[in-house]
Amino acid sequence: MYKLLPSILEADFYNLGMQIDSLRRAGISSLHIDVMDGHFVPNIALGPQLIRSIKDNCSMEIDVHLMLDNPYYFIDIFAKSGAGIISVHLETLDDSLDFISKINSYGSKSGICINPETDVEHVYRFLRDIDVVTVMSVNPGFGSQSFKQEVLHKVVKLRDYISLRGYSTIIQLDGGINLNNMDMCIRSGADNVVMGSAIFKSDSIYETAFYANEKLMRLYNR
Ligand code: DX5
Ligand code: ZN
Repeated sequence: MYKLLPSILEADFYNLGMQIDSLRRAGISSLHIDVMDGHFVPNIALGPQLIRSIKDNCSMEIDVHLMLDNPYYFIDIFAKSGAGIISVHLETLDDSLDFISKINSYGSKSGICINPETDVEHVYRFLRDIDVVTVMSVNPGFGSQSFKQEVLHKVVKLRDYISLRGYSTIIQLDGGINLNNMDMCIRSGADNVVMGSAIFKSDSIYETAFYANEKLMRLYNR
């Protein structure tokens, strides 16, 4: 239910398999994969071939974060590559809800991400129909940025909105999260946290992921 999702954006790609195995031994069951088109965000990253290769070699659930213009046209290729969850950016959507049924038609879960400067109210109308809402706590495009604490009020509002209506939408936070600021993410009402550089740039991927995962469980059981 509640998950720590390592983002592999800053992994050592030469040794990716070994690093994913360390995460698996640390109790991690999902990976967050950032896809960037060089247009919606000023960076290029990762694609369906990588997801297929990971899925062919381990049972990790893959959470795909599409930072692309026109995400609708890329849903097929990412769903077919084995993505269990596909999230698109609210800033790239028109009024149509078609992307949700398209993602669901593959048996994948759907999500929407919102940028730090996007008002949370804009996502309310989708919440009943999507599985995950991701609040970005950095501007999308790069790993290793500082956590924007000012977005946490959006998590509080989402938690209230979702609880009041009895929805089952998962609230996820992505960007700049580490062992120190995890607590305030969970206290604000987040279910899942994405953690990239804090794990992959640490001295031990295994130990950091293990400790962060344990800490997450302790926070929830409080
Ligand atoms: C930012 C990405 C994040 C990022 C997380 O565009 O969506 O998923 O890789 O990495 P850290 O934890 O280093 O901010
Ligand atoms: Zn991401």
